[in-house]
Amino acid sequence: MKPLRIHGLTKEYRIGFSRRSVLALDHLDLEIDEGEVFGFLGHNGAGKTTTIKLLMGLVYPTAGEAWILDRSIRDVGVKQSIGFLPESPFFYEYLTAEEFLTFYGQLFGIGGVTLTKKIDELLELVSMTDARRRPLRKFSKGMLQRIGIAQALINDPKLVILDEPMSGLDPVGRRDVRDIILRLKQEGKTIFFSSHILPDVEMICDRIAVLVKGRLKAVGTVQELAGASSVTSIELVAQDVSESTVAGIQDWGATATRRGHHILIKLEDDKRVNDVIERIIRQNGRIVSLTPHKQSLEEFFLTESGMNRI
Ligand SMILES: Nc1ncnc2c1ncn2[C@@H]1O[C@H](COP(=O)(O)OP(=O)(O)O)[C@@H](O)[C@H]1O
Ligand SMILES: [Mg+2]
Repeated sequence: MKPLRIHGLTKEYRIGFSRRSVLALDHLDLEIDEGEVFGFLGHNGAGKTTTIKLLMGLVYPTAGEAWILDRSIRDVGVKQSIGFLPESPFFYEYLTAEEFLTFYGQLFGIGGVTLTKKIDELLELVSMTDARRRPLRKFSKGMLQRIGIAQALINDPKLVILDEPMSGLDPVGRRDVRDIILRLKQEGKTIFFSSHILPDVEMICDRIAVLVKGRLKAVGTVQELAGASSVTSIELVAQDVSESTVAGIQDWGATATRRGHHILIKLEDDKRVNDVIERIIRQNGRIVSLTPHKQSLEEFFLTESGMNRI
């Protein structure tokens, strides 16, 4: 069973007196596998929040359909089995972390010892056990985001949907959220989250989709999208390399630059890497490092969005 299936999902907003239309989402097709961390990538205004709002039943599709855990999104009951963190969550700031989670647990009809145990578990998961009795108004943005994720998990959902969970956070806060997402994956949950922050997506997602102006531009693993085989160049740093070896390597089309004890060798592709390494080692040189330069997802993403032409 696919936790999430989206077929031809479309949303057209009508705005203003003239009822001008904005096509926020244009026939989106997407299927998410069980246990996957799926990144939904796109610039501001790409249609990420619209997609998530459609899935959550907060706005209605102009066309198309979607199923969460094999139930239509039009079925209100489907919300019982998903966790959701909106883009700008609202927090009752006078509640403590514990009271906040108790409130949401009770909304799902959980209570008593079951709820107490669940809250202990979730506070531990998001590393907030020590802050459990502190009011939310004293929380940093990163702490609020973590408690928001804990709230999204109170009903033990199979599918967790997070809208820009890392946005507005500092590098430490972003890493914390990434770690939580990976822990959820280990627990067997499926995570669908949106982001415009590439490195975060690159690091933790099994697959990603790139959305550009409401249209799906690409779906695949990071390696597939960034073209794992498309090594653009190779940089090799070596030590104790003789002049005759350098000359030999340059004959193969490499460039070599001395930097103190080190020599920096640049190759246009990976065809002669083994030859170069072998030659250096044979004359008792030492390889210090080897760095293949690939097209990053960032470059891919910019190309797909047509943004690199600006
Ligand atoms: N309620 C709305 N009414 C009219 N237009 C909207 C509404 N919500 C979003 N849009 C428009 O739809 C497009 C997609 O927005 P959104 O889904 O919020 O993108 P993202 O989350 O990727 O930044 C944008 O052009 C935005 O201005
Ligand atoms: Mg958004």
